[in-house]
Amino acid sequence: MVAYLNPRKFLWGAATSSHQVEGHNIHNDWWAWEQEGHIEGGVRSETATDHWNRFREDIQLAADLGLTSYRFSIEWSRLEPEPGKWDRASLEWYSELIAECERNGLLPMLTLHHFTSPKWFAEKNGFCNENAPNEFVAYVEYVAKNLGSRIPLWCTFNEPMVLAVGTYIAKIMPPAIFSPASVSIISRNLLRSHVRAYETLHSQIPERKGPWKDLPVQVGIAHSMLDFMPDRAWHPLDQLLSFTFHRFYNLSWLDAVTGRAQRFSLPFLVPRSPVVKEALSRRTVDFIGINYYTKAYVQWRPRDTGDGKSAEMPLGIVFARRREPMSDVGWAIHPQGLMRVMKAASRYGLPIYITENGIADREDQYRAEYLKTHVQQIQDAIAAGLDIRGYYYWSLLDNFEWIKGFGPRFGLFAVNYDSFERSARSSVTAYKSIIDTANRDAPRTFS
Ligand code: BGC
Repeated sequence: MVAYLNPRKFLWGAATSSHQVEGHNIHNDWWAWEQEGHIEGGVRSETATDHWNRFREDIQLAADLGLTSYRFSIEWSRLEPEPGKWDRASLEWYSELIAECERNGLLPMLTLHHFTSPKWFAEKNGFCNENAPNEFVAYVEYVAKNLGSRIPLWCTFNEPMVLAVGTYIAKIMPPAIFSPASVSIISRNLLRSHVRAYETLHSQIPERKGPWKDLPVQVGIAHSMLDFMPDRAWHPLDQLLSFTFHRFYNLSWLDAVTGRAQRFSLPFLVPRSPVVKEALSRRTVDFIGINYYTKAYVQWRPRDTGDGKSAEMPLGIVFARRREPMSDVGWAIHPQGLMRVMKAASRYGLPIYITENGIADREDQYRAEYLKTHVQQIQDAIAAGLDIRGYYYWSLLDNFEWIKGFGPRFGLFAVNYDSFERSARSSVTAYKSIIDTANRDAPRTFS
């Protein structure tokens, strides 16, 4: 039996990732890809939000909002800009970031890999290389030994499914090659890397220190889940595809990290990969992190409809219908879907954190309501007996939204990209009052 965080201590958080906020991550694969002009409008991450220089202010903003946890990622390419060469100054910076969290009562949840890899690693085929787990684990060991004693909550990978599909099917991540066979290769190696990281974190963290030293080390993944549904409810192929996608996208990673089947495959598209024996019949996560944003309507489309979506696959996926309320990036606002994915994840019998949930909403029209309705789903889930331990809004700040550049605004705090000034959107007050009310009304689960 594993001891978990006190279930009465629900964590209220916000999340960011290194490349999206820090600025000048010049040694990673995304930076290199950006220079080739792949980002919408030809923009580059450049200074991003200048979090590297403004992290104290940002942590202060999070603390003033009443948050009790902060999820961030470490940039592997900063710590190891060249193979085997470790950058002490970057390590110091992350140590200071953690110290700032400690001073402000923000329990750190640390993600080891959030989409970006060092350029030298990517140039050798990244996680498609058989040797990738060894290289990744050297980095994990370095983090575990140097920072690990102060960190209770870990995500090894952010959205491994999105990384695989985004790179080799959707082509929205470097090197953006259509290669469904690579989806199974990378998934297998990500799983191998995850298992090794799980073991490393549980065996190589030195004596615990700091405000959370008595909490056990808990390791999970931050897993993207969508509420899949057939586009045409009556259409048997849409139904079949929607079910197939739910199994592949939502469940295959959860199955794999809980020692069940490893099904990183799709009929006629993604071939099966050899089984990772070291992940069989054992659990390699202590909690499940869910990143939930929206629904996905799935449609069988045998011909290219000319919209670019089905050129390589007889498939259409849309995230909202025309008249539905949706975010600036066209994702339907669909809080009921959060309940559905929480229920699906809870079948694995592990504690759950909502490691990301948020909306791109520049004018802040929907964000307060979005927060309220999604948190309500969590409260209902807890009342129904689901073990949900925390909620992280994505994102603390506006940031570099990958291939979409700086257009989408997910932040609780708006960033002015000329002055880098932060300003609170009105939904900051809404989030604060949700937290206060929850603490008052349900102190047993939300304190
Ligand atoms: C990712 C974030 C991203 C967010 C909004 C998640 O899939 O983890 O990095 O910014 O979605 O697109």
